[in-house]
Amino acid sequence: MVPRPHCKKILISAGPTCEDIDPIRFFSNRSTGKMGFALARAAKKQGHDVILVTGPTSLAPPKSCQVRTVRSAREMKKAMLKYFSKADIIIKTAAVADYRPQKTFTKKLKKQEGPLTLTFVRNPDILKALGKIKKAHQTLVGFAAETHQGLYHAKKKLKEKKLDWIILNDVSRHDIGFGSDSNEVLLMSKGGEKIRLKKQSKLKLAQKILAILLA
Ligand code: CTP
Repeated sequence: MVPRPHCKKILISAGPTCEDIDPIRFFSNRSTGKMGFALARAAKKQGHDVILVTGPTSLAPPKSCQVRTVRSAREMKKAMLKYFSKADIIIKTAAVADYRPQKTFTKKLKKQEGPLTLTFVRNPDILKALGKIKKAHQTLVGFAAETHQGLYHAKKKLKEKKLDWIILNDVSRHDIGFGSDSNEVLLMSKGGEKIRLKKQSKLKLAQKILAILLA
């Protein structure tokens, strides 16, 4: 086999998670997986080994990437932990549902008179768990999806989850972020570097993000 000295193992999580309420209903969010899939495509094109762990999306899987489809946050955590130790770079673009219904009903929940009250419990914070077991040679990267006070929240996540980089994106704008083919982001490193990448296609952005993480 030909040695590939520049080839890195890159683990990417993408898409939403879906937390089932009953056989036909679930709790989720507006993530479509486009940013994570673009990163997987770009990384593969640059010759890296890519494992993509994705929540449910309608996107075609990127060619020759190893793809693991999961549904819930707990399934995503299990899959990420399985591949984590062998990865050099871990990028968590996934929009993980922070809560799940306390109970998943096995039969369709029938409507009744009056309002419906469901109790939701906290899901694990996957990225925070990875930050705790991360080794010095690994680069751990999170995305911060924010609608307000982005800088403040992103910096807090960078520190609290023990990340090397956090990538801030404004999900309140309709022309970028969830579902859009373009994005505009601010990368912040734990060392205090700030790099702004202007609005462009998610694929171009993915190439630039990888170049920064691999520099
Ligand atoms: N994340 C995770 N597990 C969770 C929640 C978030 O791994 N249960 C990861 C996401 O994949 C992302 C980063 O943490 O890389 C930030 O996610 P975000 O949804 O922006 O923020 P939260 O940490 O959920 O915090 P909040 O909802 O308070 O903004």
